[in-house]
Amino acid sequence: MDEAFQNAFIESLRSAQPQHLDDLSAWLRIPSVSSDSRRVDEVRQACDWIAEKLRNAGLEVDVLATEGHPMVFAQTPAVEGAPVVLVYGHYDVQPAEPVEDWISGPFEPTVRDGDLFARGATDDKGQLLTHVQSVCQWLSSGQPLPLQVKFLIEGEEEVGSENLERMLPDLADRLACDCVVISDSSQYADGQPAITYGLRGIATYELVVRGPSQDLHSGSFGGAVMNPAIALSKLLASMVDDRGVIQVPGYYDRVQPIGEEQREQWRGLPQSDEAFAKAIGVPELFGEQGYTTDERRWGRPTFDVNGLICGHQGEGVKTIIPATATAKISFRLVPDQDPKELTEQLREHLAANAPPAVRWELRVDHGAPGMLAGTDTPFARAAEQAIEAAFGTKPVFMRAGGSIPIVTRFQEVLGCDCLLLGWGLTDDNAHSPNEKFRVADYFRGIEASARLWSEIAELAP
Ligand code: BES
Ligand code: MN
Ligand code: MN
Repeated sequence: MDEAFQNAFIESLRSAQPQHLDDLSAWLRIPSVSSDSRRVDEVRQACDWIAEKLRNAGLEVDVLATEGHPMVFAQTPAVEGAPVVLVYGHYDVQPAEPVEDWISGPFEPTVRDGDLFARGATDDKGQLLTHVQSVCQWLSSGQPLPLQVKFLIEGEEEVGSENLERMLPDLADRLACDCVVISDSSQYADGQPAITYGLRGIATYELVVRGPSQDLHSGSFGGAVMNPAIALSKLLASMVDDRGVIQVPGYYDRVQPIGEEQREQWRGLPQSDEAFAKAIGVPELFGEQGYTTDERRWGRPTFDVNGLICGHQGEGVKTIIPATATAKISFRLVPDQDPKELTEQLREHLAANAPPAVRWELRVDHGAPGMLAGTDTPFARAAEQAIEAAFGTKPVFMRAGGSIPIVTRFQEVLGCDCLLLGWGLTDDNAHSPNEKFRVADYFRGIEASARLWSEIAELAP
């Protein structure tokens, strides 16, 4: 790369920062909540916004219809002999509720103390837009981009990416690339950027327990019928013991143990359980015995209750036996657990533990396996260089506990690895009230992205 151009270009990125911030704010103002059927128009608007941004910069852009929300495919011109990179990200966001817990409105992007607050700021509009900005600005610099960049930006990541998964084989030719770049994770800590080489998978369900055909007076009937809420509580309690070990038979059969080398590397990362507990407001941490906090979050599978629905929720007392009780539950999976196999194991566990006095139903929502990416690849080396130059600190390698459902399908169908470069922070409040993205991290991410294109273009073919 011509060094004079590189320096001038980085300088031009810096002078464009106010515009970059305005762009992100405009996108964040569109409430693209993919799970909310009342928001289909807004989801569409957010899709059109990013399509338009890419089109205006001269990329070839296609908005692809799916059975659900549309996605955007875009590409820069092919560059003979240079690598092809696919940037993947999502423009859909999680619901903003409880809205009253936000200091400023979730869809009224506001900068306070160097942080930009809005739903989607870090997950994923802000992080994704760093790559869009670096490419768009490069195309307007007068110098050709030294490699081909493709974009796949979907609107259903937060609801499981099932339409993309179905369409992926048909899209494989257009998406063909040497590496998938994703910025939808985080740095290890403030001031410590990271390359994420593993994600957990996920399996989500709704467990419904039914008793009487309608709610009953708990005086007239109490003691004579089984209460579905109690039956559900016991079933949930049967899933995990007091030491945090999951009791579904066969659950750990395929779990890849965390290698000694990894455990050692993770133990070398700066961390404090006290600070971690304090930051999330719990009296102490809890998890599977025999593992550290990072091991529990990155390398061990879990069971969680995400929601409980049953009985009287209104004011005051209502003495009833509820007719039904429902739990929204999920498991975080690690390589090589299989979400389909888990569904079978779970059904067997429920059949063996549910009392005959109630009926139960397990509704399968979505599932995706865990992912591991290579750490010793030319693309990871290129990313190390780019991140160190932009953030001033060499990145560490880490794994993350969250899930991006499509990543293992990219590895299988496109036959190339994923490079996960998180610009956000773990306390950015993703999925929570007051989600934020530090403005400086947004700008550093744009710079790191631009430098990444130079580094990757220089890799030997
Ligand atoms: N960006 C997250 C995934 C993530 C979180 C990666 C933390 C690394 C660290 C993504 O948008 C997400 O929230 N995924 C969902 C997937 C689910 C809804 C299918 C998740 O992990 O809960
Ligand atoms: Mn995300
Ligand atoms: Mn998310």
